[in-house]
Formats: sequence, C-alpha cells, structure tokens
Amino acid sequence: MKNKTSIQGTWASRWIFILAATGSAVGLGNIWKFPYITGENGGGAFVLVYLICIALVGLPIMMAEVFIGRRARKNPINALEDLAEESGQSKKWGIIGLMGMLAGIFIFSFYSVVAGWVLHYIKAMATGELANVSSEQAGALFNELLADPATLLGWHTLFTLMVLAVVIAGVNKGLERATRIMMPALFFLLIALLGYAISTPGFSQGWDFMFHFDVSELSWDAVLVALGHSFFTLSLGMGTIMAYGSYMPKKASIGSTVLMVGALDTLVALVAGLAIFPIIFSNGMNPGAGPGLMFISLPVAFGQMAFGQFFGFLFFVLVGVAAWTSAISLLEPSVAFLVERFKLKRSTASIGLAILVWLLGIACLGSFNFMSDVTFFGKNTFDALDYLTTNIMLPLGGILIAIFAGWFVKDQFVKDEVQTSNFIHVCWKVSVCVISPIAVSIVLLLNL
Ligand code: PHE
Repeated sequence: MKNKTSIQGTWASRWIFILAATGSAVGLGNIWKFPYITGENGGGAFVLVYLICIALVGLPIMMAEVFIGRRARKNPINALEDLAEESGQSKKWGIIGLMGMLAGIFIFSFYSVVAGWVLHYIKAMATGELANVSSEQAGALFNELLADPATLLGWHTLFTLMVLAVVIAGVNKGLERATRIMMPALFFLLIALLGYAISTPGFSQGWDFMFHFDVSELSWDAVLVALGHSFFTLSLGMGTIMAYGSYMPKKASIGSTVLMVGALDTLVALVAGLAIFPIIFSNGMNPGAGPGLMFISLPVAFGQMAFGQFFGFLFFVLVGVAAWTSAISLLEPSVAFLVERFKLKRSTASIGLAILVWLLGIACLGSFNFMSDVTFFGKNTFDALDYLTTNIMLPLGGILIAIFAGWFVKDQFVKDEVQTSNFIHVCWKVSVCVISPIAVSIVLLLNL
C-alpha cells in the first residue's frame, strides 16, 4: 500500500470512526424527516420497507465507500481516480466524487436553514415563548419565523459559523474532539426523551403506529420515499463516508464497523419516532402533519404536558447537536479535496467553502420570503435543492459507487482491504452488482 495514512489525520480508534460516522448519519434526517415521512406514509409498512432498504442497499454501499476511502487514504475524488487507475480503468470515475462535493454543498445550504429553525426553537423553548400554545398559535409562530429573513439569516449564519469552527480545526482537533463530546450527549438526550415518551399515555398507540405492519397499507410511493431516504440518512452517495473512511485506522474491520453505524443510525431514527409519536398521540394530534410535525405539532404537545417546556428544550438541543455533527461531514470531503488537490491551507479551504454555502443558504432561506417567486420546475430554491440532492444526486452517486466497486474495481483489492468471510463478500457482491443498481435505477426513473 502506498499511503498508510491520510495527510488530514487518522481517527484515534475504530470507535471514534463509528461515532464520527454515526454523527454524520444521525441528523435532521433521523429526527425531523424520518418521523414525518413515516407519518405521511402510514407508519409500520413504511418502517419495514425502510429497514429492508437499509439492509439490502444502504449497508453494502456504505461498505463500498469505506473501502474506497480507506484503501486510497485520500479525498473522494482522488480516491476514486487512484482506485480506477490501479484497476486499469478510466480516471473519469473521479467525477462521482465531484458530483458528491456539489451535492454536499447543496445539502448544506438547506440543511443549515432547517438547523437555524432548530436553534430558534431552542431559544423559544428556553424563554417559554411556546408554553401552552394552541395549534393555530404554533402554526402562526412557525410561519412568522419563515417570513422573517433577518431572523433566519442570523440563525443560518450562527450555524454555519459553528460548523466552520469545527471543520477548520481539522480531523483530530476538530471533528474527533466534537465527536467525543457531542455523541455521548446525543445518546444521553435521546434516552431521556424516550423515557419521557414512555411515561406518556400515548406510548402504546405510538408504538403500534410504528410497528404494526399491514401489507395493504404499502404503497409504491412509500417504497420510493424509503429508498431515497436510506441514502440521505446514512450520508451515502456523496463521499462523506468515503472521506471518513480515509481516516479510519487500518486494523479496524470494515464489515462490522459499517454494520454498527447502520444499526445505530436506524436505532436513533426508530427511537426518535418512538419519542415523537406518543407525544403527538397523547395530545390527539395528527401524525401525518408533514414537515411541520416537529416545529408545529410537537411544541403544542410539549406545551400541554407536565415538564413539557424542559423536555421540549432538551429535544431541540438534541436535534441541534445531531444537525451539527452531520453538517460538519457535509463539508469535510470538499475541504479535504481542496487541501489535497490544490494545496490550499485547511483554513483557507474551510472559510472559502463556508462562504459559498452561506451564500447559497441565503437563497434557501429566501425561498420562504423575499425569493418565494424564484422557482425551478415549480419548486422554490429550498425544495428544489432538497429534491435534486435527496432524490437524484445521492441515489445516482450511490448507484455509480456500487457499480464501480462491484464491476470495475479488481475483486482482490476489495478482499484485501475488507477482509471478511467469503459469505459476506458474496452477499456484498450480489448487492452492489445487482440489487442496488436495479433497485436504485427503478427509483431514479420513477422519480424523473
Ligand atoms: N445523514 C444526515 C441526516 O440524516 C444528512 C447527511 C447526508 C449528512 C449526506 C452528510 C451527507 O441528517
């Protein structure tokens, strides 16, 4: 092997990789999106399809990404180019990494706006602004926030700076340190909230809603949403996991590590659902409320419950921390690329990218007010970027990574690096060569 370690650094241990990758995976996708799309798609049947997508498509592609990153020890674009060259293929495969970089920048711009809403709600919970609000009032407060570009800009700027502060400090002093502090806090908060949800009268109804599986409820549309979401939630298809994999210690086993990250991400999504739905049901509210579920329904529910303000505050802190560790990972692949390819200083690369995503974020937050009439294919900037990345760029990136790793990379390279049993290797091959490409192509075509 030519490069033993990445010039950016190496995680202190296998566990740090697991926690850092979980920090990337667990984010707004788990706590904001997953519960509301589960609510919109009828509950249990959707959850089941989602689990199948994670197992059959998500985990094998995650293995492929970690493998590519760790073998090359470089940023995604260089890693793909190196591996293609070594396998006797065209260096053009590096384009997947370039598309991923772009996807990361796009995702960041709307992600940071939603994270800004979360920061606003932390403050609102702390000051008691949301105590005892009715649904109408909560709806009005959320809409007021969306209509106020100055406030949105303030929160978006603060969040971008929080992310910049971590990324600029580098892999060990920034990302790893943040992981060590924030991930335990995240698990602790989640457990506290689950305990609270269990104590509410709606818990069994919430449980049934998520785990009562009825085939007749299964719609084709739900399958599409579930597959698209499995890429988003596992941070796949854009090079994040490749970049994190390039910092992974050599001795850590890729198969079991990836399994752990997938399991933790899924667990957090399920627990988030179990923490949210009982609170919604306990207050007789509608689980299918859509994106406003977290920002409108939940504050109303918290407002009517014992200790609701306190747990509501904890809840939004949890979401804020989860969004923070994910947003860091959206920028890291691009920072590593700029540093390695153009020999920029890490600080220059980080600040430059932060300015870029900050500017794009202004277009996203403007979607709800001063730029609401700017549309692409009938969607405002915010929705268009969400749609373009989640439904097109990530699945496309994922399928190309699967095809590359399955059909074009020398099999011996995979065996050397991944070192798993023959059985697991064959299962992985079947997924990346056949199942993932077919499943994802169907979804892509139907989405278009
Ligand atoms: N996985 C993150 C979430 O669920 C979002 C994300 C996507 C982060 C892609 C990095 C890369 O919120």
